[in-house]
Amino acid sequence: MAQLEITDVSKVFPGGTVAVDRFSLKVADGELVCLLGPSGSGKSTLLRMVGGFERPSSGVIAIDGEDVTRVPPERRPTGMVFQSHALWSHMNVFRNLAFGLKLRRLPKDEIRRRVEAVLELVGLAGYGARQTNQLSGGQQQRVALARSLVLEPKILLLDEPFASLDQHLRERLREEVRDIQQRLKITTLFVTHGQDEALALADRIVVMRDGRTEQVGSPDMVYREPATPFVAGFIGTMNLVEGRVAGGRFERGGFGVPVPVADGPVTIAVRPEALGIAPSDGAASHVHRVTDYGTHAIVDIELADGTRVKAMVREARDWRAGQGVALKPEAFAAYRDDAVVHRG
Ligand SMILES: Nc1ncnc2c1ncn2[C@@H]1O[C@H](COP(=O)(O)OP(=O)(O)O)[C@@H](O)[C@H]1O
Ligand SMILES: [Mg+2]
Repeated sequence: MAQLEITDVSKVFPGGTVAVDRFSLKVADGELVCLLGPSGSGKSTLLRMVGGFERPSSGVIAIDGEDVTRVPPERRPTGMVFQSHALWSHMNVFRNLAFGLKLRRLPKDEIRRRVEAVLELVGLAGYGARQTNQLSGGQQQRVALARSLVLEPKILLLDEPFASLDQHLRERLREEVRDIQQRLKITTLFVTHGQDEALALADRIVVMRDGRTEQVGSPDMVYREPATPFVAGFIGTMNLVEGRVAGGRFERGGFGVPVPVADGPVTIAVRPEALGIAPSDGAASHVHRVTDYGTHAIVDIELADGTRVKAMVREARDWRAGQGVALKPEAFAAYRDDAVVHRG
């Protein structure tokens, strides 16, 4: 069990790229926090600094109150799992896992006991004698995870560990990681660019953009109340309609909502599931396409001015291309200058 505190950490690479920009975060004992952001937003650099593989340009990283900013990786109580499994291909699974324990000069029977226990934990009991190149991609990532866990780190760091796997396997492994993490109550930082992964895994999500925090909150919070249009557009499917408020009302191509703020530009964000639609002959907006996903359908709508929005409906068969629709947003947010100015 451990707490992690990152205070005002920046990383400027030679050449001037600011990868991480005055970033601060506290991770509580046993908490799983996902760093979520697009490619290049500084997630890996931040994680590597926590693991000690990269030195911050400024700022402090502390674990359980102890400053580790200048401590090398092998002397930090952290374990890191990378995107591409960096297993040693000339060693079997057992020796891959035993390696770090041997360096610590643990007795042989203790090493065997711990390796067997961790193999059991990741669902690979009995795989010790296997060569790593005889494992599937998913099994290799399980071994990579086991190799970190066997050293009993206080803090587990995972950098897109399942990105190279197919979606089915990725979903299964992330559930396993969550189970293991909760069983061990291990403080965890998990990097991903997949919003579904973050929503499914995290106690809290940190949405990153250009090396900075855009929003921190529970999955529910960042999904339901995105603080900025960037978060709104990044997490889940969101209709973002830009335009102007005039006289307390936003209107664009037949899409209208009351927005009681001063006249001026706003961006309206509404989820497809919160955009009510009704057939309306002669309406300015019409159905462009209907896509049936089995559990639900998505109706693509073209507004009078050509803007496209999506609405979620139960039954695809109720809708056909060309049909006129009236729009009734049931829940929406209005943003101005990157901040929420109204929720309706
Ligand atoms: N070793 C490096 N040298 C120079 N620039 C780097 C280095 N590593 C990362 N960067 C730059 O830092 C920024 C953040 O990268 P990274 O942390 O890998 O982002 P993410 O993991 O979110 O995709 C990017 O602009 C990237 O090009
Ligand atoms: Mg990365």
